[in-house]
Amino acid sequence: MKNVNIGMIGYGFMGKAHTNGYAQANHFFKLGHKPVLKALCARNAEKAQEFADNWGYESIETDWRELLKRDDIDAVDICVPNNLHKEISIAAAEAGKAVLCEKPLAIDVAEGEAMCEAVEKAGVPNMVWYNYRRIPAVSLAKQIIDEGRLGKIFHYRANFLQDWTINADVPQGGAATWRLDAEAAGSGVTGDLLAHCIDTALWLNGGIKDVSAMTETFVKERLHAETGKKEPVTIDDACMFHCHFDNGSLGLFESTRYARGHKALYTLEINGEHGSLAWDLHDLHRLQYFNYADDGIVRGWRDVHVSDGDQPYMGNWWVPGLNVGYEHSFIHQVADFLKSLDEGKPVHPSFRDALETQKVCDAVLKSAKDRAWMDV
Ligand SMILES: NC(=O)c1ccc[n+]([C@@H]2O[C@H](COP(=O)([O-])OP(=O)(O)OC[C@H]3O[C@@H](n4cnc5c(N)ncnc54)[C@H](O)[C@@H]3O)[C@@H](O)[C@H]2O)c1
Repeated sequence: MKNVNIGMIGYGFMGKAHTNGYAQANHFFKLGHKPVLKALCARNAEKAQEFADNWGYESIETDWRELLKRDDIDAVDICVPNNLHKEISIAAAEAGKAVLCEKPLAIDVAEGEAMCEAVEKAGVPNMVWYNYRRIPAVSLAKQIIDEGRLGKIFHYRANFLQDWTINADVPQGGAATWRLDAEAAGSGVTGDLLAHCIDTALWLNGGIKDVSAMTETFVKERLHAETGKKEPVTIDDACMFHCHFDNGSLGLFESTRYARGHKALYTLEINGEHGSLAWDLHDLHRLQYFNYADDGIVRGWRDVHVSDGDQPYMGNWWVPGLNVGYEHSFIHQVADFLKSLDEGKPVHPSFRDALETQKVCDAVLKSAKDRAWMDV
């Protein structure tokens, strides 16, 4: 068993989700590598220590540059706002560390390209946490599509709907609401939510050729948590786009933080010549499957409860019939990363894979701005 010493940067939502992945992966998957929670890095030493104590990190750092200087760190995990991804990733690659970066890869394609070049030049393992690929029902969708069971694909549609920014008193910027500040986030729902939908779509249905998009910013000014002043909001609150895929199918995507009643409604559907698939994050262990080849009198949508040993990842979990949850997507991604080290192969999505999603995001934002179709 080889140890992989993890240096985690950030202890927020993703810091916790990933750390849980490191803690659990080897309990459930037979692997030749094992993560060691070596150091937790965050600016506030007290909070960093509290997180480190709770999760079992051996040490803390308060400056990520110091973390990167340490010889006892093998892999750097970047769980901080998007505007820090580039600088930390490139420095980590140059320091010879494996780089595991949260999504979206970068603020824009130019940053993403520099990041790809850095990890490839350094020859270090690299991965971006588009974790929805590793939800067993989504992985099963990939298997069904790759086996050709849907035949020629005609349509792909996805939504990611939330409602947490409807109140105009929600500030922008700062620790809790950096997602509303374009400087920290790069974009609004496009980079935050649609990026997930796009990654899954590229994985399931192949490349996107061109896009036509519209965005809206419903609340034009918000108090900035750092400056204390009302400032213009420059992120996209909502975004819709349609597109052509390379395989000839049509795509339709929508995301908003203004869909009252929806907290994280990520749904996708794909329609092919022989069948269709549909998936809903709120019921993440189920995959809906329609197979036109079924006998006519019983033909209909099947509600597949993805919990059996021969379905993706599920042989590593409980007994058939018992499902897993959101956190398992991160455990699976850690397990796949460790397996890639065992085999000496790249893990996906790599930085280069995530750059493809970034290209679509940039084209979407430019299309909305110019009110024109945009090639990806
Ligand atoms: N894969 C997913 O499903 C998913 C879900 C949520 C967030 N994300 C991504 O993860 C990243 C982090 O998001 P989050 O929700 O965990 O945010 P968060 O606000 O919960 O946590 C951010 C963390 O970054 C720390 N931080 C900020 N600046 C820092 C610096 N200079 N040095 C060290 N630490 C610093 C903060 O203290 C905090 O611990 C973002 O890129 C986001 O897009 C991905």
